[in-house]
Amino acid sequence: MDTLSNTIRSDLISIDHPVLNQVASYFFGGANTSSGGKKIRPMMILLLSKAMQIHDAPAYDQGRPDIHAATRRLAEISELIHTASLFHDDVIDGADTRRGTPTVHKVFGNKMAILAGDYLLARASIFLARLRNVEVVESMSTIIEHLVRGEVMQLNKATLTTTPTPSTVDSSTSFTPVHHLEQRMVYYLRKNFYKTASLMANSCKSAAILGGYPDDMIHSAYCFGKHLGIAFQLVDDVLDYEGTVGSMGKPPLADLNAGLATAPVLLASHVLPELIPMMDRKFRLEGDVDRAVYMVRQTNAIQRTMELAVIHAQKAMDSIMPLKPSVYRDSLVHLAHSVVNRSR
Ligand code: FPP
Ligand code: MG
Repeated sequence: MDTLSNTIRSDLISIDHPVLNQVASYFFGGANTSSGGKKIRPMMILLLSKAMQIHDAPAYDQGRPDIHAATRRLAEISELIHTASLFHDDVIDGADTRRGTPTVHKVFGNKMAILAGDYLLARASIFLARLRNVEVVESMSTIIEHLVRGEVMQLNKATLTTTPTPSTVDSSTSFTPVHHLEQRMVYYLRKNFYKTASLMANSCKSAAILGGYPDDMIHSAYCFGKHLGIAFQLVDDVLDYEGTVGSMGKPPLADLNAGLATAPVLLASHVLPELIPMMDRKFRLEGDVDRAVYMVRQTNAIQRTMELAVIHAQKAMDSIMPLKPSVYRDSLVHLAHSVVNRSR
């Protein structure tokens, strides 16, 4: 993974403009040497490619001879897209810290952070085109659309907040229909797919397409990435309640402070409906965030969120079980376990 950062920095994004070069390589061992992140996405792509290769050597052998290089490039492209989205996300969220270090926009300003994110996307597009595989280009481009869609869904909960409360009902004391809470949970899970799981799903799918494997393997690869991505985001949303800036490299309770209701508070609201008006006003009243945390902890909502994450991690593991046993398949299982057991 260290080599991956070095290759990205030297071969994929290096540019003769010193400022753009410095900003773009911020998370690739440039200005900032210790903030490369977990590299889960490229790790997933490389391990899955090897596991599929062992499973179906003949199909692989009939594929392009430079497939190792192409798969590696795909892993680098996925990390470029991910990093671009983080540059932009930290501007949108006004975040000061990521990976235990000041965010790009804190160091270089909003304009450079946005432009450097655009530059990473542009470079990802060029190297994607050079893979000379239209299906892979389509799958990887879909990720970018989904990232934007997920981020907009997070900003603008239009489908929920515009749902009128019947005038005959006193919303502070009324019974909240279960279907409305379910609707919030469905919306939240869809948003999680777009903002997190699509990148993993479509990257894994692209790895299978590049290897020239049959449709059922492409589908299994997609399902592995999708379910692991959903599990990853659910754990992320739990860590926002449980973690510390020391353990995560970013401040906790960022979601509630940003007015976001994630799985723990959504599930807690099923048993403590007092949370619903707090969610509707985006935890804006003084004391709302502290009260919400207290109430979530009164319930088993964090545990239930983790259980949901484990279910998705299990589904991810089930998707790769048809592959022949190998050290790479074992490593993917290990990766799935570490996604749910992680503290950062
Ligand atoms: C982190 O979420 C953010 C994302 C997973 C996606 C962000 C997507 C965009 C900004 C859309 C633009 C996309 C591109 C490709 C430029 P989070 O804020 O919940 O997590 P965090 O705590 O790590 O910030
Ligand atoms: Mg953010």
